[in-house]
Amino acid sequence: MARLSKTPLSPRSRSWNTAMAAFPGDLDLTFAPDQIEGKIPASLYQTRLLSNGPGWTKIGKRLAHPFDGHGYVRSFSFLPDGSCQLKARFVRTPVYLNEARAGRIMHRGLGTNREGHFWDNMRSGIPRNVANTTITRWGDQLLAGWEGGAPYALDAESLETIGEKDFNGLIAGQSTLAHMKHDAAQQRLVLCSHKSRKETLFTFRELDKQEQLVSTNEVSIEGMLFTHDFALSPSYYVLGGNPLRLKPFELLKMALGADTLLNAIAPDNRQPGCLYLVPRQSGGETRKITLPHAAFVIHFGNAFEEDGAVIVDACVFSSFEMGHEFGYTGPHTPFDPALPDEREPQRLIRIKIPAGATEASYEPLAPYGIDFPRFHPQHESQETPFLFGATRKDTRHSDPFDSLVCIDLLDPERPHQLWTAPEDVFVGEPIFAPDPTAPNKGHILAILSDGLKERSTLVIFDATRLQDGPLASIPMPLLPIAFHGDWDAQAL
Ligand SMILES: [Fe+2]
Repeated sequence: MARLSKTPLSPRSRSWNTAMAAFPGDLDLTFAPDQIEGKIPASLYQTRLLSNGPGWTKIGKRLAHPFDGHGYVRSFSFLPDGSCQLKARFVRTPVYLNEARAGRIMHRGLGTNREGHFWDNMRSGIPRNVANTTITRWGDQLLAGWEGGAPYALDAESLETIGEKDFNGLIAGQSTLAHMKHDAAQQRLVLCSHKSRKETLFTFRELDKQEQLVSTNEVSIEGMLFTHDFALSPSYYVLGGNPLRLKPFELLKMALGADTLLNAIAPDNRQPGCLYLVPRQSGGETRKITLPHAAFVIHFGNAFEEDGAVIVDACVFSSFEMGHEFGYTGPHTPFDPALPDEREPQRLIRIKIPAGATEASYEPLAPYGIDFPRFHPQHESQETPFLFGATRKDTRHSDPFDSLVCIDLLDPERPHQLWTAPEDVFVGEPIFAPDPTAPNKGHILAILSDGLKERSTLVIFDATRLQDGPLASIPMPLLPIAFHGDWDAQAL
């Protein structure tokens, strides 16, 4: 799929490459009201937007796969005088500190090998935990999640790195998903650790605000599965089936240090799509749910239950290829934002599983390719009226995204709301910030990336009036493309 091109990069490609490789480093900036177009809504005062993603991908002479770029946490605080404060810090993981000292890639990653001879990759080193994928407020800490190990804890105010967070040894040494769920009704943090061989062992743990273990459930599912995210309903953890196959030649090359894990595995598209419903109470039976089409789910929206049925919203690929995420083409060639256009886009699907059923119905919710699904954070595992996502105005394609979409989940006849950024400007994950004075209302916060003008813009919308455009736009220096964010009601 990867290809090299000697033709000059298009403006879109230049914008994408500049934004992916932006490297502003640690920042402390204040944007005064007169630097802001429009006004920050008062309901956001003393709250903040959090964001995480790879903030250093051009490391020495090599371009790291974005999954292997160093975690770069951004906090955008909204102050009562109408200003916005940006604080950005790298997560000081051991891998970051080693590579900052050396100025080059020292540790092999999921999609990136070390510089130098390929056999250097055969030596086992420390895992490349770069804490770059998610950011979640829990108590007085922020948790920067990563896909293969424990999250890193940061001081919530200073963003100083505290260290690996294993919850008193609970997840020590375990691969734990970067995506954690917050059961707002029960005030629980839900973690999923997993180990994949011929079967995949999942361990779900729920912790209370004091980080005490409230419940745990361990299940084994046949086959090697890919899992990045899960959904939470009142009774179940919902997992994508996502069977994987090994690519023998690439696996051998990987073992010899000449290829990467992402290139050595592939979705097994020969198998029908399925979901697994894992009971939140231990002792119950895990339900395998067959889907009517091939399905590969990376991100879930919400899940809830109605008369015993489980309803799940998910961004579903009909097929997927690994290793080229975000248009990555290798360590010495530019990102290609047209690469994702070669596959079918992910579609937002409502999956309904009747009580006791082993098959589900399947209803596309929008004609767009949609990902980064978000909703009111207090509606986790309950029915929620609106779902927001990043999308592309051109419905044939999805990422990199140029638009935001709002879907009315209670009124399917209501037209979707779409807002599209200017040409060659990219749109990040929409984060919902609830308005505490009005149930179901709030604001959508997203970051725009304009690599051509070397500028990022934090945009704030009335959540139910996306197509009216932003209420406030806060221009700032170009920040690297982020993965995931969160809204923090407890800004200090
Ligand atoms: Fe994700």
